[in-house]
Amino acid sequence: MTVTGLLDGPGAELLADACASYQPGQELQLVEKLRRQYDAALVTTAVTQASLRHRAVAKFGPDAARMFFTPDGLEQATRSTVGSHRAQRIAATLPGSSVVDLGCGIGGDLIGAARAGLRVTGVERDPATAAAARANLSALGLPGEVVVGDAESFDLAPYDVVFADPARRADGRRVFDHNAYSPPWTFVTELLSRTACVKVAPGIPHDAVPDGVEAEWISDAGEVKEAALWSGRLYAGTARRATLLPSGASVTEAPEAESGPVGQYIYEPDGAVVRAGLVTAVAAAVDGWLLDPRIAYVTAAKLVPTPLASAYEVVEELPYKEKALRSWVRTHGIGTLEIKKRGVDLDPAQLRKKLTPKGSASATLIITRIGRDAVAYSCRRVSG
Ligand SMILES: C[S@@+](CC[C@H](N)C(=O)[O-])C[C@H]1O[C@@H](n2cnc3c(N)ncnc32)[C@H](O)[C@@H]1O
Repeated sequence: MTVTGLLDGPGAELLADACASYQPGQELQLVEKLRRQYDAALVTTAVTQASLRHRAVAKFGPDAARMFFTPDGLEQATRSTVGSHRAQRIAATLPGSSVVDLGCGIGGDLIGAARAGLRVTGVERDPATAAAARANLSALGLPGEVVVGDAESFDLAPYDVVFADPARRADGRRVFDHNAYSPPWTFVTELLSRTACVKVAPGIPHDAVPDGVEAEWISDAGEVKEAALWSGRLYAGTARRATLLPSGASVTEAPEAESGPVGQYIYEPDGAVVRAGLVTAVAAAVDGWLLDPRIAYVTAAKLVPTPLASAYEVVEELPYKEKALRSWVRTHGIGTLEIKKRGVDLDPAQLRKKLTPKGSASATLIITRIGRDAVAYSCRRVSG
């Protein structure tokens, strides 16, 4: 059952009722109650929709209450913060341009683009998903069209910009290999010979990015969400960029950096900076150096606030030995223990369990490798 039955008339009334009474975990009771008043098949669709709207708040904020979803469509949709960041970059470079979104899903990216004043056309091969995208533009009062069709045979000539967010799921499972995208990677790389923006998984290998294309790793609230590939007139002359939302801080250069002994502070670069291979930009920003040339921790003598990294004050260096760490936890009465690690093979959750934290103090343990040696630093989180 598609969302079309819920767009107007009794279906819309039913959906409003379902959303008003919806409580997670109480779906069966709600279905039973609504069936007394409405058509049974439509009730299930409406309650599913109410549950999807509830989940969608994390991605779409208050807009979710007016939007329409399919379970897969919501799962794969771009969160509005990231979608609007990309859309604004397109609008700033090519204001008012026409954008075709190949495989638009439920329209997460279409919405951001339409709001940025771009003229949008979505192409989606799944009719139910396309219906949700169409309903979303209309529910949010945004202009644009959605066509059911195959991205690979769609005529791109009339559009200034091509956007694609290839499906990264096969049989309900997430696909990490970019060669398994749909539409396929061969098609995506062809798109990158025109003015295009393509969203890919953040694990994309640097050498898979074609020459003359920028890869922008984007994080939101400290979590790396995606890499966006920019080509043609959207290429800004830089190969790699890290952008951190919500601040919008962005870096593109990786200056030379020394490595040396730990200073008073350790900085943990944001994941987007790490993925983009721009860790030395953090060293430059905080007047610091690397702890080890191959590990993404920066250290410095001073505390310099930066949106690019979280800062920790080093309290003491500890041997990376379970017994020594357990005694440190006990002596300091540490009950809340955050464990950070890079370059060492360990499971922080398991180690935390073994160290049996108990008490009212809290601390961060940073475990890393310097040369061949594993070291641990007891730290106090100061920012980020
Ligand atoms: C990752 S989702 C897009 C999500 C969208 N950017 C959003 O924010 O809501 C990819 C979509 O591409 C569609 N798709 C995959 N291959 C396609 C093709 N060859 N032609 C048209 N649509 C396709 C899938 O059905 C899926 O809905």
